[in-house]
Amino acid sequence: MNLKEKIIDKIDILKRNPRLFAHVIKNVVKTRLGLFPKTPKEGNRFSTDLEVKTLQKYACIARVGIVEVGVLDGLTTREMAKVAQAPIYGIDPIIPDSMNERLIGNEEKIKQNLNFYPKFYFFKDYSFNVVKNWRQPFDFIFIDGDHTYEAVRQDFLQWFPLLQSGGTVAFHDSAPVTSTIPGGFIGWPGPIKLVAELKNSPALEFLEVQDSLSVFRKK
Ligand SMILES: C[S@@+](CC[C@H](N)C(=O)[O-])C[C@H]1O[C@@H](n2cnc3c(N)ncnc32)[C@H](O)[C@@H]1O
Repeated sequence: MNLKEKIIDKIDILKRNPRLFAHVIKNVVKTRLGLFPKTPKEGNRFSTDLEVKTLQKYACIARVGIVEVGVLDGLTTREMAKVAQAPIYGIDPIIPDSMNERLIGNEEKIKQNLNFYPKFYFFKDYSFNVVKNWRQPFDFIFIDGDHTYEAVRQDFLQWFPLLQSGGTVAFHDSAPVTSTIPGGFIGWPGPIKLVAELKNSPALEFLEVQDSLSVFRKK
């Protein structure tokens, strides 16, 4: 999706949600007036506290394995590792991020962030390659890789059959965050569309949405 299409998609979402539109405008004005604290350069957050808490909630009950598609520098991976007992498998080809081309993960940072967790395994490759020979069992998967609709759908379709029954799947950026992010964040069209479709799937039970993180259980 090119920049123009992305902007049109976002405008469409705002048009359908006047309350969100008002909220975004309010936050833009607040940001311009300097009423929000500046995000520090280091420790720049891509996930809200509520999203991290929710990821930790499922990471700590995972018994057999946790897969994270899209690791970047390993920040969310680290948060999950703080509470997890199961092995964590992080997958990322280390390429420019689909939401922000200037954002590229760093293997050294991943190593540093996860050096305290002996059961972390990193796969430097695309999820659609890694899945082909996947053998390790897992009962939680966090999908946060390529955010285009086609890619996030493909991630779901390829990994879901391998997820244990009763396991959980979480999608980042799949709903608006209206409270905690300066300027507001309306989510990302690809995950939003997929999550809307999955809410009608008989194979899944929708569990919750916390900020932009939507979580389902495999029946
Ligand atoms: C939003 S970032 C992940 C952020 C990370 N989960 C966090 O919150 O700290 C998206 C990442 O997905 C990776 N990515 C893009 N396409 C991918 C694919 N097909 N498989 C796995 N990762 C992919 C990018 O390299 C990028 O690092």
